[in-house]
Order: sequence, then C-alpha cells, then structure tokens
Amino acid sequence: MADKKRVFVKTYGCQMNVYDSQRIGEALISEGYDITGSPDSADLILVNTCHIREKAVEKIYSELGRYKKVKDKSPELKIGVMGCVAQAEGKEIIRRQPLVDLVVGPQSYHRLPKMLRNVEAGEKAIDIDFPTEDKFLYLPKTKKKKLPPAAFLTVQEGCDKFCAFCVVPYTRGSEASRSPVHLLAEARSLVEKGVVEITLLGQNVNGYSYIRHNEDWGLARLISELAKISDLKRIRFTTSHPNDMTDSLIKLFGTEEKLMPYLHLPIQSGSDRVLKAMNRRHSVEHYLRILSRVRESRPDVAISGDFIVGFPGETEADFQATLELCEDVKYAQAYSFKYSSRPGTPAAKLKEIGEDTKSERLSRLQSLLMQHQKQFQQNMIGRRYSVLIEKEGKEQGQVVGRSPYLQPVFLQGSLDLLGKIIPVEMKSYRTNSLEGKMI
Ligand code: 5AD
Ligand code: SF4
Repeated sequence: MADKKRVFVKTYGCQMNVYDSQRIGEALISEGYDITGSPDSADLILVNTCHIREKAVEKIYSELGRYKKVKDKSPELKIGVMGCVAQAEGKEIIRRQPLVDLVVGPQSYHRLPKMLRNVEAGEKAIDIDFPTEDKFLYLPKTKKKKLPPAAFLTVQEGCDKFCAFCVVPYTRGSEASRSPVHLLAEARSLVEKGVVEITLLGQNVNGYSYIRHNEDWGLARLISELAKISDLKRIRFTTSHPNDMTDSLIKLFGTEEKLMPYLHLPIQSGSDRVLKAMNRRHSVEHYLRILSRVRESRPDVAISGDFIVGFPGETEADFQATLELCEDVKYAQAYSFKYSSRPGTPAAKLKEIGEDTKSERLSRLQSLLMQHQKQFQQNMIGRRYSVLIEKEGKEQGQVVGRSPYLQPVFLQGSLDLLGKIIPVEMKSYRTNSLEGKMI
C-alpha cells in the first residue's frame, strides 16, 4: 500500500481559526491523510490565516515565502491558504505568491476535499463563496476516542455590527447561528470523549440566535441546555458585544454554576467620541452599567477586554478617557492593539494619526493593564480555587490547569489528574500564570 499523504496545518488568528483547523484536520484524516507537525515532511501545507491587522497578514506572506525551500525539495508539495486572508484577498494571493495552489474562505471548508482533488489534478482551486449551509454539518466528526479536557465549539459566526475598523463582517460574512440540536449533539459527543469544559465561540457569541419551533434560542438558553449534560462541568463563551448582553445572560452568571465567572467584553475605547467614530453604537456609560449588573449577578466575575489605541482622530484627551475607564474597571486581563487600517473598511478612508503616538499610547495603556492584571493575580494568593487539570507541565511531576478565571495554574501532581477539577491553593504568580498547591 502506498504511504499515506501527510498534511501540515499552520494556524494564525483567533480561537475560531483553531476550531476550524481542528475540524479540517479531522476531515482530512477521513480523506486518508495523516497529520504531521513539520512542513518539511508534508505533502500538503494548509495555512489558516487572520486578516484582522496588517501585521498578521504580513506574517502570513513571509510564512508562505519560507515554504519555497520545501517546495524546491519536494515539487509535488501542494500549498493551500484558508481563513480570513483567503476570503479577503482571493486570487490576489496566488498572484503575489504563485507557490499557492488553493485558496479557500472560511465559509467553504466543507468543499475542501473536492478542491484538493482538483489541485491533485494540477489545477489551481479558489472558493471564496458565502454558501448558506452549515459547513460543520458536512465536515466529518473526529474519530478520536479520547479528547483533551477543554474544547472549543463554534456556535455563531460572522458579524452585522460593522465597527468602522473591522474586517470581520467582510471575511466571515453576516451573523449566522448553528442549530441548537446540532450543537447539543456535538457537545454530548465531546463530553463522551472526555471533554469537561467547553468554550462557545462566535465573533458575536452573545448575539447567538436560532429560531426553533417559533422560539428564539439566545445564548443564555443554549448555555442552560448545555449545562444539563451532567459530565460537562464548565462552560465559557467568547467574544461578546455590549449591545447583545441580554438580561437573561447577565442573570445566568449568578444562577448557572457551570458558567465560569469570566466575561470577555471588549469596548475598544473609553471615549464616547471615539466609540461614535468607531460605529460601536454604545456609550461608555452603557458598557459600565452592563459590567456592574454582571458583577451584581456574580460578584467574583473577572472582566477581560480589547482595546484599540490610535484610532483616526483619537486625541490625548480621548486616550486619557481610555486609561480612566481601565482604572475604573480593573480588568483581570485585556488585549490592546495599535489601530491598523484595513482595506475596505470605512475607517480606512480616515486620516491616520502618527505611528509614534500610537506606539507611545499603546505602551502606556499596556503598562496600566499589566499593573491591574498583576493586582488581580496577587489577590488570589493564599486562596483556594478549583482548577481543571488540562495537561502535563514542562517540569518533572508538574501538571497545568486553568483557574475559573482562565489563568494557567502550575502545580505538582500526577497525570491521573488530567481532566479532573481539583481544589488548589495559589502560592505565587507570574505575569500570565499562577503556581499552586493541591489541597
Ligand atoms: N486594528 C487594530 N485592532 C483591531 N481589532 C480589530 N480590528 C482591528 C484593527 N483594524 C482588535 C479589536 C478586536 C480584536 C479581536 O482585534 O480590539 O476586539
Ligand atoms: Fe482574524 Fe477575525 Fe478572521 Fe479570527 S475572524 S482569524 S480574528 S480576521
């Protein structure tokens, strides 16, 4: 029998890309491929791409350039580009990097096996349609009997919000939610394979909405139903928009024990003027009101967020307002980025502010956010939290898990603990993790 073909999948971008890459890997295993961890031994390389900022895109083109050497050594190698750059740039990718054989956008992944057959026949294949069917229904499920304890599950994709800076509405299409029947079935099958924590994914996950028997299932209802799966112990969701934080979802933080006390709720800027220019369609006050209601519902909730500094027209006073907001909220964790102009978005027409100003503001914001993150972790020292043990640590006899607030926690323990939720006393913290001791 001929050797199996090998595929190497390289993933950039968000957790949704991670989920997509996993599903595609499984689909290719069903097509007779093996997964390899090295591009040098691959017959097929797939690069799953992110278009969110210019830097992310440049990284991808330089990665593709590196594959030239691999292709020189094995001319039969095929190279595919998937994800958001594929969607946004289409055949331009092949013009810029002729090594590429295949370009497939996020909504067409179920067509990949057929496209690969065309590529094998020596053609270039491009598919950047937005078909309406749920691609995940057509991608085979995993054949693995045992899965790691924490899994992702995409429940919603796309965005109708059109923030002025953002490519997502153009790369992932309009908001679409998957059927709760399929999601519950997928969650049950994950749990049967050892999954105890599921993170529900969506670009606007709290905008999840599915009409079934004339009833609108929102995210709160979906989470409540998932929580009935008894061996599923923890549920998380990301990423949310302030305008979709429904009363029922806010309440659920206080009533559903399996919903973890962690909310990622980006605001992007602390200035109403900038929020307006960004077309966020909410004020700082509205955002703060939501946070205080979530905190009423679940007092220990950890808040995380995203910020963009240096949006066109942002003044020093606007930026100060962002710093004040952070002082007010005290984020447990937050991601911050310099504004990056994206082709085709409304903000791309606006005059940009200087790179130096952007860099200087970013570093001021990041040092404040880091201070708050440290304070949050420091407050955990000496206290006990439940930790889901996810994997072996790098050091001998060490395992790594996650606190309810998503931080990695390192501790001494045996591999029997994998998949278990155990009480851990926090002993010390580093920038992005904690060290603890099993009780
Ligand atoms: N420039 C910089 N950051 C951006 N983000 C989205 N679009 C841009 C852009 N054009 C950030 C936002 C978003 C996160 C996923 O990426 O903060 O919440
Ligand atoms: Fe990047 Fe957005 Fe696409 Fe995720 S959805 S890969 S963040 S552009």
